[in-house]
Amino acid sequence: MTQKIAVLPGDGIGPEIVEQAVRVLKALDLPLEINHAPVGGTAYDLHGHPLPPDTLKLAQESNAVLFGAVGDWKYDKLPREHRPEQAILGLRKAMGLFANLRPAILYPELANASSLKPEIVSGLDILILRELTGDIYFGTPRGVREAPDGPFKGQREGFDTMRYAEPEIRRIAHIGFQAAMKRQGKLCSVDKANVLETSQLWRDIVTDVSKEYPGVQLSHMYVDNAAMQLVRAPREFDVIVTGNLFGDILSDEAAMLTGSIGMLPSASLNASGQGLYEPSHGSAPDIAGKGIANPLATILSSAMMLRYSLNQAAHADRIEKAVQKVLQQGLRTADIFEAGTTKVGTSQMGDAVLKALG
Ligand code: IPM
Ligand code: MG
Repeated sequence: MTQKIAVLPGDGIGPEIVEQAVRVLKALDLPLEINHAPVGGTAYDLHGHPLPPDTLKLAQESNAVLFGAVGDWKYDKLPREHRPEQAILGLRKAMGLFANLRPAILYPELANASSLKPEIVSGLDILILRELTGDIYFGTPRGVREAPDGPFKGQREGFDTMRYAEPEIRRIAHIGFQAAMKRQGKLCSVDKANVLETSQLWRDIVTDVSKEYPGVQLSHMYVDNAAMQLVRAPREFDVIVTGNLFGDILSDEAAMLTGSIGMLPSASLNASGQGLYEPSHGSAPDIAGKGIANPLATILSSAMMLRYSLNQAAHADRIEKAVQKVLQQGLRTADIFEAGTTKVGTSQMGDAVLKALG
């Protein structure tokens, strides 16, 4: 009955924002066992590795992981395998978290936060579905070598491998169609099929899977055009499904459309429903420890956790309503502050959400 949550606060503002989300989870009075473990640069300092075996084990043995953020400039000079980012990549791979859900929602209360005109973004509600365990991120071979041939033969060259197997494309496509069915029924698959073989296979498989979902309107778009359409007419999109690299880029773009990346949660799921939940923003080392970071993206990530991994949709709704309520009350952390609202710090924002939970 008791469900296990691994809390991995990480670096920068990670610990402060995660603390607020944990307070909210505890206030729900559910049978949850919550365990903390170090990750990222913090774990490297303690144990010489960004994803220590005990941390990975705890994550794998839990129903869900609540993840803060990793990264700090002070680790930039470390060899790649010891950099904080390897922790999140390692967790994704080891837990098979192939489906990354990144909603980009423009809250009506924050309509002015976007850098786009209100008539272009008001009411924006997009879901980016990013494949998370394949593509050029994990493809082999990769490395730096002496070029074996070509005009630069004998010179140093870096190389990576973009690669997708048919079942990997098929399973993420199914999730895309199923998500679209629960929303406006539109799925846009983004690729670069005019240039890349990987993308041509992607397009063929997504088209094939679409036969099982006659109720969903499927479109295909090249990634360069998608980047353009996202700023030209973002509300034309409902669900976007794409590969790991394109999804990394487009999800940052979509997040920025809302002007408040501090508000956006994310979920990364595997085939058995286990998930890792993290805010879409990073570790923001420049404001770490100041008590001014926005905890709402992490609190909303805990709502996604309740919905997707813990089978507690009603509690997820409760948290989301509480967040909306504090926005309506005019409470804002520095990142979303505007004239006429009340500026609050990280823990005050947590207090307000707890109070709004009732
Ligand atoms: C993200 C991040 C990561 C990624 C980094 C930190 C490895 O940018 O989650 O989007 O590229 O996937
Ligand atoms: Mg990214």
